[in-house]
Amino acid sequence: MKPLLEIKDLHAQVEGQEILKGINLAMDDGQVHAVMGRNGSGKSTLANVLMGSPFYEVTQGQVLFKGRDITNEDTTTRARMGMFLGFQYPVELAGVRVYEFLKTLHRNKTGEDIKPAEFRAYLSDIMSTLDMEPDVLGRGLNEGFSGGEKKKLEVLQLLLLQPELAILDETDSGLDVDALRTVSWGIRKAVERGSKVLIITHYTRILDYLSPDRVHVLLNGRIVASDGPDLAQKIDDQGYEWLGGAQ
Ligand SMILES: Nc1ncnc2c1ncn2[C@@H]1O[C@H](COP(=O)(O)OP(=O)(O)OP(=O)(O)O)[C@@H](O)[C@H]1O
Ligand SMILES: [Mg+2]
Repeated sequence: MKPLLEIKDLHAQVEGQEILKGINLAMDDGQVHAVMGRNGSGKSTLANVLMGSPFYEVTQGQVLFKGRDITNEDTTTRARMGMFLGFQYPVELAGVRVYEFLKTLHRNKTGEDIKPAEFRAYLSDIMSTLDMEPDVLGRGLNEGFSGGEKKKLEVLQLLLLQPELAILDETDSGLDVDALRTVSWGIRKAVERGSKVLIITHYTRILDYLSPDRVHVLLNGRIVASDGPDLAQKIDDQGYEWLGGAQ
């Protein structure tokens, strides 16, 4: 069977500086893969490049999704093919109401114009399990949201879109213990419904909830180790030094 995602010798740069220096990674088994690595090692760059961000230039290598070379495809095409990115720092768009934004996502995904009452009921169910305030729907997108509220809105989008591949960039960062449990529940739900997840994280806590099949370590623009879940625990105990020293 073809791997869902295959990254081959991927090099990418921003403003003339090479950040990704030959990434090799395959999601060929299991449903949850984790990427860990020091601050500044290139994790968010990888997530953005995978989603086709125009701010990064791929200079070498390939990304294959479901066996198709998507290296030169734009973000919209990748999203239509079933990819989703949960941002480390979700953007604030004051002029866009959350409700309208979610409705557009739903319409793009299903091709249906769902009745407002039906859509509100559907959202209200997910939002109550994510412990989100209903008035969020009437606010500007992420406008004035707390860090935790932003991350929950990312998970709401994940559950709404139910993508084949969700790349989640530190969806667990900055959450209190209850919010972490709630967000983990949401991600787990998406996995149970068939989404595969590539989660970038600094902490083993979320991995206790999600039990990853593989853990990859990204250091200084390269994957330096890929192994089972014990690797995350080892990093938690010993840090990154043993994997390749200084950046
Ligand atoms: N748009 C950009 N302009 C300039 N430098 C950038 C840009 N994007 C990323 N970089 C640089 O690339 C390097 C990797 O950044 P990246 O955000 O990918 O790291 P990260 O592994 O996600 O770190 P963290 O764990 O802190 O989120 C950093 O040195 C960063 O300053
Ligand atoms: Mg990052």
